[in-house]
Order: sequence, then structure tokens, then C-alpha cells
Amino acid sequence: MSDSMILVNTLEELWQALSLLERPLGLVPTMGYLHEGHLSLVRRARQECVSVAVSIFVNPTQFGPNEDLSRYPRDLERDLHLLEAAGADLVWIPSNEVMYPPGFQTWVTVETLTLPLEGAMRPGHFRGVTTVVSKLFNAVRPEKAYFGQKDAQQAAVIRQMTRDLSYPIEIVVCPTVREADGLAMSSRNTYLSPEERQAATVLFRALSAAETAYRAGERNAETLRHIMRTTIESEPLARLQYVSCADYDTLQELETVSGKALLSMAVFIGATRLIDNCVLG
Ligand code: PAJ
Repeated sequence: MSDSMILVNTLEELWQALSLLERPLGLVPTMGYLHEGHLSLVRRARQECVSVAVSIFVNPTQFGPNEDLSRYPRDLERDLHLLEAAGADLVWIPSNEVMYPPGFQTWVTVETLTLPLEGAMRPGHFRGVTTVVSKLFNAVRPEKAYFGQKDAQQAAVIRQMTRDLSYPIEIVVCPTVREADGLAMSSRNTYLSPEERQAATVLFRALSAAETAYRAGERNAETLRHIMRTTIESEPLARLQYVSCADYDTLQELETVSGKALLSMAVFIGATRLIDNCVLG
């Protein structure tokens, strides 16, 4: 919409800038170090909304004590060039103090849906995500917000939060963008050595093998999990954390696939933890 992209840091600057943007406004929340996955969300927002806002904030509260917060990759200058080219109108880069002022003590928690999968492996992670996304929604008040299917449980949890807290915001979930060899794009792929980068294709290979079996008629969820597990175990640099074949809506493990299902996994490649998923049915 506007000729030049507006950059803001404080809430006051944000509100001032928002008053200049025409509606509907689409919001794309990110933690920066942008790749084609993020940019696909910005482009989708560009198509569907008159104005597009992007937030860049490496949210400390969604990282566990032994996770990669301090070494999470950052390149703000590059991000801003990419966002300008993708047609963002506004970029909000809040500081930790803006997001979490001294004495901060209010949290947003989604209950049952955050118990399995990523929630089980990363205690407190989704509380950090829902709290920060709730704050982004409150500050920006977009008509639409864009998330990636790459983080399937996150998308489900945000949808649940949006319904439960009556946010007048449409949640748009966009397909996973992959490298040519199938690896799902992720800011964390930058941690991988060349050897590990090669090994990391095993996640997509495992999902594809299970999907092929499903298409050939396999409906036993444990068989599908077994196919994924053995594929991961065949890769020496990979260490499986979990595989799942779960109901698409509840994320509860299935015995038999009848309706829509989510195949998902978390795998360590060396020290780097990667996740991926695909939807069946
Ligand atoms: P981040 O990992 O930066 O991802 C920002 C958005 O991009 C998320 O909605 C994520 O699902 C999406 N995304 C990442 N990789 C993708 C890919 N390969 N294809 C399609 N979409 C992809 O997710 C977060 O940040 C944070 O948890 C956040 C929602 C910003 C809250 O802090």
C-alpha cells in the first residue's frame, strides 16, 4: 500500500503508524532470520489484505532453559530488505522491555491442546507463544493473521486461543515451504553442517514413506508411526525424539486413521532439533 516500509519499535510508534494504514490489515508474526517460508506468508497477506504488518521478535518466553535463545540466528538488515521486496507496509521490532515490561506477570495458556507433541517435549513453550501472539494481536489489531503449517500444533493452538478469547481475527494457515530436496525451510537449518544438512532430508523422507503407505490403503496408525520411526533410525546422524500419527483436530494419538490426521515428528540432527509434519485425508 505505502511506497516505503515503516519501521517501528515502541508501542506509541506502532499505534501512530497503524493509524496511517488502510484496512483490512494482515499481520505476519515472526522471529526474524527470514526465509521463503516466512515470505510466503507475507505474500499471501499482500494478496488478501490492503496493508501488511510484520513483527520480528525473538520471544524469550517460548524458549526453554536449555534451548537456543542466545544463539538464535539474527540478521535484521537482510530481513528488512526481504520484507521491503515482499511488499510489507509496516515492520514492528519490539524490544524485550516493550514486550515484557518490568514486573510482567500475566500469561495466556491454552490447556488440553498444548499437552501432547511439542507441548510435551517443550514445557512452557506454548505458554510463551500464546502470550506473545496475544500481545501482538492486542497491539496490532489485524483483521487477519498468517501462520505456517510447518508448525502445525502452533497453528492449532493459535486458532484455539483466537476462538476462546474472541479475537475478531481470521487465522490463515499457509502450506509448508520446502527446499528442492524436501527439507522444510527453517531458520534453524542454518545450524546444520553440510553433512547434517544432507542427513536432515530424512524427516521428509520419513513423512513421504508414511504418506505413500497411507495412499496405498494403510490405515493402522502404529504401522504409519513404525514406517516413520524406521526411516529416521536408518539415518546415522539422526536421533528421533517422537513420531506421531494423531487426530488432526485434537492431536490425540490414533489407532486407526479414519478422518483427517496429522503425521508429525521431532528429530535431532546432531545438536539441532528439527520438526516437520504432513496432513492425511
Ligand atoms: P518463526 O519460527 O519465525 O515462524 C514465523 C511463521 O513462519 C510461523 O507461523 C511459522 O509456522 C512460519 N513458517 C516457518 N517456516 C515455514 C515454512 N517452511 N513454510 C511455511 N511457513 C513457515 O513461529 C514463530 O516464529 C513464533 O513461534 C511466533 C509465532 C512468531 C511467536 O513468537
